[in-house]
Amino acid sequence: MGALAFDHHSLEDRSSALGNLTLQLSMARGIDEILAVVRSHARRLIGSDGITFVLRDGEKCHYAEEDAISPLWKGQRFPLETCISGWTMLNRQVVVIEDIYRDDRIPHDAYRPTFVKSLAMAPVRQDDPVAAIGAYWGSNHRPTPAQIQMLVHIANSAAVAFTNVTLVSSLIAAREEAIRAKEAIILAMASLAETRDNDTGNHLIRTQHYVRALAEACVERGLFAGELTPTTIDLLFKSAPLHDIGKVGIPDSILLKPGKLTAEEYDTMKTHAELGRQAIATAERHLGCCTPFFGMAQTIALTHHEKWDGTGYPHGLKGAEIPLAGRLMAIADVYDALVSERVYKKALSHGDAVDRIVAESGRHFDPDLTDAFHEIADTFHDIHQRFADAPTA
Ligand SMILES: [Fe+2]
Ligand SMILES: [Fe+2]
Repeated sequence: MGALAFDHHSLEDRSSALGNLTLQLSMARGIDEILAVVRSHARRLIGSDGITFVLRDGEKCHYAEEDAISPLWKGQRFPLETCISGWTMLNRQVVVIEDIYRDDRIPHDAYRPTFVKSLAMAPVRQDDPVAAIGAYWGSNHRPTPAQIQMLVHIANSAAVAFTNVTLVSSLIAAREEAIRAKEAIILAMASLAETRDNDTGNHLIRTQHYVRALAEACVERGLFAGELTPTTIDLLFKSAPLHDIGKVGIPDSILLKPGKLTAEEYDTMKTHAELGRQAIATAERHLGCCTPFFGMAQTIALTHHEKWDGTGYPHGLKGAEIPLAGRLMAIADVYDALVSERVYKKALSHGDAVDRIVAESGRHFDPDLTDAFHEIADTFHDIHQRFADAPTA
């Protein structure tokens, strides 16, 4: 019998086993782990024939886990009022029953198919029980004070573990929420910048889809496979809409000018790359967080006007000196500009735009990327159709 097995363990064995259980519970990362730790240690520590771990699930008790000489109620749910684990949780106290058939808090029908004759049950988190742990014996047995103390100790360790798990998951949720909020603020800034020079916001959405399609096409062709991991491609997708955020710093007289810019105006216009990088860096500093998203967004804002042959701006970087993100963005941005109508120009057809980009291979654009673009140009066309601008009045 379990009760005898208990007596065979020396005091040191028991206290080190209990220490081990407490340690494992303190490291549990989820309710499943808490259940598993209790399931694998509690019965032997208490010296019972069975244990159950019952979770409170609204107005029901859920027999979530058990370890017993023969099956109990694992997986079943009972109303709190009709079972003894419910009684323990509702009354926030330990219950000890030497003969279950002489106690009318016990639903005898549920017990008849089982071996159980005696039990002890303790709430997990006494001030606001979230669960209960039960110990069962197959013969009429009055649990010893040491056994009850052990049961209560395990229930209290489980309570600490529950609190930890709840805290950690709410911290994680809060952190993810904060990151999402930060990204949303930045995207809102980006679309404000966009609406100033282009009254349709779809350019941002299209460029993020182009960039992702082009990056995925590269990976399929074995290009930049080490650099373009799924995480990086996702970052490219998320940060592409920020490429022109620096335009918030460009005066309307230049941004909205229908005709050709003067050399001086064009120099001002070029500053949007560095202004964009600064805006994102400032946002990152103020928001007090540093995620790869902000780094990628800065790179794209700063380098999307660099050219492969070194004639671009702001730094005249050449070839592979230009970060891959900037090289990808250049194709996405130029394609969309060519096939879209702007105040100062008509739209080109898809075919003409493709020819124009291919002709710039090795001059404006990275030749490898231009080849990949050429092969998947239809996808660019589809994206442009799918997120078409509403016709302007
Ligand atoms: Fe730009
Ligand atoms: Fe753009």
